[in-house]
Amino acid sequence: MVLSRRTFTKFVAATPAISSCYSASSETLRDAGAKKNLLIGSAVSFRQLERPDYTTLLREQASIVVSENDMKWLLIHPEAERYDFAHSDALVAFAAKNNQKVRGHNLCWHNQMSTWFQSIATPENAADLLRRHIAEVAGHYRGRIHSWDVVNEAINVDDGRPDGLRKSQWLNLLGPQYLDVAFTAAAKADGQAILTYNDYDLEQDSPKHEGKRAAVLQLLTSMKSRGIPVQALGLQAHLHATGKPDNWSGFERFLDSVDKLGLQMFITELDVDDSELPGDVSERDAAVAKVYGDFLNRVLSRKSLKAVLTWGISDANTWLNGRHPRPDGLRKRPLPFDAEMKPKPAFYAMLEAINSAPARS
Ligand code: G3I
Repeated sequence: MVLSRRTFTKFVAATPAISSCYSASSETLRDAGAKKNLLIGSAVSFRQLERPDYTTLLREQASIVVSENDMKWLLIHPEAERYDFAHSDALVAFAAKNNQKVRGHNLCWHNQMSTWFQSIATPENAADLLRRHIAEVAGHYRGRIHSWDVVNEAINVDDGRPDGLRKSQWLNLLGPQYLDVAFTAAAKADGQAILTYNDYDLEQDSPKHEGKRAAVLQLLTSMKSRGIPVQALGLQAHLHATGKPDNWSGFERFLDSVDKLGLQMFITELDVDDSELPGDVSERDAAVAKVYGDFLNRVLSRKSLKAVLTWGISDANTWLNGRHPRPDGLRKRPLPFDAEMKPKPAFYAMLEAINSAPARS
């Protein structure tokens, strides 16, 4: 019997014994993406590069990688006058060896900041500190980065400002112009990298996501109209499987507006949190795969969407097991490969969505 991929996905989802004994598929995400001129990849934490089964999987499946933590201020700029590129250089070298592109994450964020910064930054010197950091870090990797997350997560509607900007230390020190400073400095440091604004909670059906979409759109529209060199939107896509399907209509309208601004789009941190589902593994895997499929079929129909990265590739390593564990203590299963690096229904859902997508130029 020959099964179509769609049937196979459903079949595997309903049959846990098959998903656990089925090893690597002959077609990889990387190869399927290449046929459509679409980059596919994953976040990488430095420690995982010591695991041969992991590096084999990453090499086979990814045409683009991003460091999960090592390019953030705290790690790459640990002291005011000292930069530490050791871990991120190792990933960039791994990628070069395997003909993979690299995303840079990130140059300006409210989180994972070095403590030295807080002790010396003032409204007078903060713009220079930001410019110098960007010149050093983006300059170090000039010409080797596909796209930089120049500013990460600047919007937090819950903070109550009319413009939706997060009340971060950057905003406190410099006001809203800190985004302009960051993008302008990044353009100066690396004229080839695609300069990206990256954020979360933009995808699903809820008043919270709708409010955030409006604020992000307002921000991007304002930057474009003032000639600030923002070139792409990163949709983090930390999604939730709730058992209640999304209709994605607010998301589609939002993407239409982003398209009209002429920005490229990347899915930068895709994973699907299964905490709200019952414990049964096959049910969880099927529900997670359904969200992957529904979501990717939407975004991949747009040719302005140029890359899809998951936040980790295997359930062996996901930030989702750190901070908010499942109430029943079971490990979460948010990624396309399981902890033994075997493909899950989410992998087949990704493959099917990529294969159904139009080719990019
Ligand atoms: O490496 C240290 C270890 O030495 C120490 O023993 C341990 C004790 O807590 O901490 C380890 O560092 C942790 C690091 O992850 C590496 O595992 C940090 O505490 C922890 O805060 C850090 O979390 C990262 C988080 O960003 C920081 O906010 C996650 O790995 C990373 O996946 C997550 O990624 C973010 C993106 O950058 C932006 N979008 C959301 C996404 C998920 O939160």
